[in-house]
Amino acid sequence: MAKKTIDDLRNIRDSKILVRVDFNVPQDAAGNITNDRRIRAAIPTLTRLLEADARLIVMSHLGRPKGDPRADARFNMYRVASRLQELLRQEGDYGVHYIHQVVGPEAEKAARNLSRGGVLLLENLRFHPGEQAGDPAFAAQLARLGDVYVNDAFGTCHRSDASMVAVPAAMKTQGKPRVVGLLVAKELQILDQLLANPARPFLAILGGAKVSDKIGFIKSLLGRVERMLIGGAMTYTFMQAQGRGIGNSKAEADKVDLAKELLRLGQGKIALPVDHLIVDRIEPPRTARVVEGDIPAGAIGVDIGPKTIAQYTQEIATAGTAIWNGPLGKFEDEPFNKGTHAVAEAMAQSKTVTIVGGGETAEAVEDLGLDAKMKHVSTGGGAFLEYIEGTPFAALAQIEDV
Ligand code: 3PG
Repeated sequence: MAKKTIDDLRNIRDSKILVRVDFNVPQDAAGNITNDRRIRAAIPTLTRLLEADARLIVMSHLGRPKGDPRADARFNMYRVASRLQELLRQEGDYGVHYIHQVVGPEAEKAARNLSRGGVLLLENLRFHPGEQAGDPAFAAQLARLGDVYVNDAFGTCHRSDASMVAVPAAMKTQGKPRVVGLLVAKELQILDQLLANPARPFLAILGGAKVSDKIGFIKSLLGRVERMLIGGAMTYTFMQAQGRGIGNSKAEADKVDLAKELLRLGQGKIALPVDHLIVDRIEPPRTARVVEGDIPAGAIGVDIGPKTIAQYTQEIATAGTAIWNGPLGKFEDEPFNKGTHAVAEAMAQSKTVTIVGGGETAEAVEDLGLDAKMKHVSTGGGAFLEYIEGTPFAALAQIEDV
């Protein structure tokens, strides 16, 4: 999908550029940012524009605030603003001015008063009901703030929130340029190449809890890959579909027919684990042991077993392309993270074209310090899945084609 990028913009000195980013970062219960990857990923675009002496109005959503958002401090952009300021300071003498308004007179005044090389960060877009409603009146207020629109929010490209669709639509009617940032351009280029012409054999590794979250993604990949390796709790739904014992493992009882259909569609491409790490109780995990084949009555599957790890890592090493989404076990509990870690290591060490997508998977790879060794770690969660699935994105349709 060839879209105009910020490199196609001319004469942006002093221009006010409205940049939609995805700063929807994970936070702990106190609101501290636990992973700033999405903020770091936007820095190349922001610095490129600042170096061209533009003035930036940066906007994002954060979380899914309900009711009175201001009652919960986790949802305001305060910590994001601080982190953005730290990161931009490493690049130059750039100041971030954060205001507690999304739109309105204060936002308009702050945008007007922005100095060359200055950054204005608006409050969480979802504090305004018009954002998720896609309200054109709200969009018109945002559109007024900028002379140019930049979408660098790959992680939100599957959403039709006002800032993603109605704002560029309004700016189009005003004849204002609409381009993607460097992050979105890179994500599109790598994923388009993956879909059009992957190095073969093309291998998918799929984990996570639910088959139902990824139906379209799995179907799309089954038509493209030579092989699909399954892990995580979705394993047990597939095992049920084969009429096998899963003990008390977590499964989607109402998705067994769907799993049967996917196995049929896969025509032997889908590989399930040959052994499992199981426990009698999650807490304490003292009863952890490995079992081959079916899972005995009463036991709970929590990770892939060592034989499966050996098989999966071997397949990754010999693949031309490997795409991975979803943890292979209950990886947030340390004793059950071996499968996820082994797959991450195998991906990092292989010469395969390695693509990692999805929030949890990307974070697991980062926590291990292996992200730089992958060909690409997408900033998209749902957007990554939907792009591969082939869903058209209304947000990207608003951006000028090359
Ligand atoms: C994401 O994290 O997938 C994006 O930021 C979109 O967030 P949302 O699922 O709350 O719309």
